[in-house]
Amino acid sequence: MAQSNELAESPQAPEALKISVIGCGYLGAVHAASMAELGHEVVGVEVDVEKAEALAAGRVPFFEPGFEELLRRSLASGRLSFSPDMKAATGAAVHFVCVGTPQRRGEYAADLTYVEAATSSLLDVLGPGELVVGKSTVPVGTAARLAALVAERVPEAALAWNPEFLREGFAVQDTLHPDRLVYGVADGGPVDAEALLDRVYARIVADDTPKVVTDYATAEMVKTAANSFLATKISFINAMAELCEATGADVKQLADAIGHDDRIGRKFLNAGLGFGGGCLPKDIRAFMARAGELGADQALTFLREVDNINMRRRIRMVELARQVCDDSLLGKRIAVLGAAFKPDSDDIRDSPALNVAAQLQLQGASVRVTDPQALPNVRRQWSQLDCVDTPEEAAEGADAVLLLTEWRQYKELDPAAFGAVVRTRRVLDGRNALDREAWEAAGWTYRALGRRNA
Ligand code: UDX
Repeated sequence: MAQSNELAESPQAPEALKISVIGCGYLGAVHAASMAELGHEVVGVEVDVEKAEALAAGRVPFFEPGFEELLRRSLASGRLSFSPDMKAATGAAVHFVCVGTPQRRGEYAADLTYVEAATSSLLDVLGPGELVVGKSTVPVGTAARLAALVAERVPEAALAWNPEFLREGFAVQDTLHPDRLVYGVADGGPVDAEALLDRVYARIVADDTPKVVTDYATAEMVKTAANSFLATKISFINAMAELCEATGADVKQLADAIGHDDRIGRKFLNAGLGFGGGCLPKDIRAFMARAGELGADQALTFLREVDNINMRRRIRMVELARQVCDDSLLGKRIAVLGAAFKPDSDDIRDSPALNVAAQLQLQGASVRVTDPQALPNVRRQWSQLDCVDTPEEAAEGADAVLLLTEWRQYKELDPAAFGAVVRTRRVLDGRNALDREAWEAAGWTYRALGRRNA
């Protein structure tokens, strides 16, 4: 699978380096192809042989807009290869560690098994003058510990921490045009990490992208602090939604009005079913766990409330469905539109939509789920749920339709035509994403979290 070619002379890439990317999941695969796009010679090391083979053949094992084109372009340039063998990373000037840090089973803390395994096998091939760059989201203190391992085994090599802020659905754009670069580096040392990273990101640096060069602990915390802030913003507006329901106020208008204040901003103030996915929920929990280990747990107790507010939204959605179905879910047919944790993704990790769908089913409803991209994953992991390909099939004879992931194609449904397939025109907008007036005008009873009833 490995291919190599002469790059140093490439006119587009005067700063070209040999780079390895260890771990080619979501983050690593996008990073590897993006680094090749920037002109570097890149090898992606992925222990899952099937995944490495698929990527080498230009097949993307997940849905991400624009990524397949980027991958194929990078492969065709001859600058990108994949291998299941760590030896392929030998001789790279920079080694990016991009493996996952999931939540530990039954605990809040992050599971560092993959980071540790990847680093220890990388140490077998690491050479003097080379730089190990951590991109995975890790508990603060991890980089210093790994740097000590590097120093012990290869004293002439070094380590830096360079967190990644990519959003699913925008992964390519966020990697090639990030809104900031953060380098966590050690003082002094055998390798000029900042200069080397500047070479890696030469084109991005040339775009005047803001850059923060700092210590390891700050770089690690930038990532968890950013995700905690985003989660807090979402839970804030969802807490306001709870109050709106209690007072008869309207959370969407409230968000618009406070969002006009530049200091607050309208982004990430969309009230609804709350956050899910492979990052925000586990990152805020790992952050709390780490704060506890450091004796600073009080500083983050508010994140427990952020998590609680978020989980309450799912319960509330089920209650609302029960209410509109004449106070009983037993035997009711419910259509669930959306299964991915957010639109433009097939990722169903901690998906609020599936959580609600499963609760409804457990409480006796007959649930049909549809999603434009995530159904293969749902069928594999949630075999008890009935999956259908189209919203019309999901809604056939339905007592209620729930919009739980705001895919564009669901927002564009024609409420009049769609109304012909259901038994009763009741729609619950779990993402405050539908054109309420249009649905009501077509005879639907519209309900949403934090909104006034008609
Ligand atoms: C997030 C961070 O945004 C990204 O910077 C980091 O690198 C990884 O984690 P991602 O998990 O892809 O990215 O999703 P994001 O767009 O942040 O959305 C997270 C969740 O919040 C989704 O479930 C989304 O539906 C929900 N959300 C987002 C809201 O409920 N309301 C909003 O206003 C925004």
